[in-house]
Amino acid sequence: MFSANDFIPTTYSHSIEGGNFKWSAPSNIALVKYWGKKDNQIPANPSVSFTLNNCKTITKLAFAKKEKQDVFSFDLLFEGKPKEDFKPKIQKFLERIEIYLPFLKDYHFTIDTENTFPHSSGIASSASGMAAIAMNFMSLEKALNPSMTEEHFYQKASFLARLGSGSACRSVKGSVVVWGNQDNIKGSSDLFGVEFPNAIHESFNNFQDTILLVDKGEKQVSSTVGHDLMHNHPYAERRFVQAHENLDKLIAIFESGDLEEFIKVVESEALTLHAMMMTSMPYFILMKPNTLQIINAIWKFRNETKIPVCFTLDAGANVHVLYPENVSAAVLQFIKDELVGFCQNGQYICDEIGNGASSIDN
Ligand code: PMV
Repeated sequence: MFSANDFIPTTYSHSIEGGNFKWSAPSNIALVKYWGKKDNQIPANPSVSFTLNNCKTITKLAFAKKEKQDVFSFDLLFEGKPKEDFKPKIQKFLERIEIYLPFLKDYHFTIDTENTFPHSSGIASSASGMAAIAMNFMSLEKALNPSMTEEHFYQKASFLARLGSGSACRSVKGSVVVWGNQDNIKGSSDLFGVEFPNAIHESFNNFQDTILLVDKGEKQVSSTVGHDLMHNHPYAERRFVQAHENLDKLIAIFESGDLEEFIKVVESEALTLHAMMMTSMPYFILMKPNTLQIINAIWKFRNETKIPVCFTLDAGANVHVLYPENVSAAVLQFIKDELVGFCQNGQYICDEIGNGASSIDN
């Protein structure tokens, strides 16, 4: 069993004055949802997600040795321009991970970041953003300790990303990623995400996710507050058990390729997530009228055509439309004909299952 202490390094064999790294990391979409956590970003229940391919954050980390002082020193650029309002989140992240990366105060960092998806589209950039920055820090640690194994590199990257934003730990490596202890999933851990180790039916190859942008406004309740409201929530304990049950169901579904059962689990998880929000105290609703219009239209289309298309939701109003690649033409036509009208400015993003973070040569 791993413990967080396994990620505290003892010594570094090399020293390095300066340089830069660049990584891209994707967003991910959960099928079984993480909602509720314990101290130190330990999830209250396990989750599983599809890694996305097109919605990514690209982050360049430049570093230069400075006199060691007791402060973190960094500049933050978003799309090439200084972005002061992102800095507190990064400062907090550095404080949290310093014990695991004791070199952080030895350098001045310039963190230059951009997203491939529209800014404030309502797509959470915290998963891809925290994963991209964690990858860069791991590249630096690997430069200080070149004998590090690839396994440790990716595990620790996911571990660090998790401390930035829980779901970010599922954006590091693999197409289907599990985070959280689950008896039947070998290697699964509360500390980091792991590639789903069991068989996955070919029906899930190139699975599509078209993200309908329903509302791009600021969320009225952040996910930090939402997670917190699962403490003393009347349905929390049952919900956490249900997430384990649904993950077990998905193990069998991934193997069999039974899309009818897949749809039942995925849509139920999405609605349960929002049901938890609606039954919190204080209660809140993140769906918008057009979210429901879209869900109803998907149900009608699926009933009439028998095409295995379904929806899932994040902590927001946007709808992720999930379907196998072989029905793409029909589903995209349906989206254009019947769903685009419910999207803000008619906007949607075509994405599909991807493989995780990748290093970009400068
Ligand atoms: O990673 P956080 O703390 O922003 O939580 C996100 C939780 C959901 O997106 C709602 C579900 C999930 O598992 O990704």
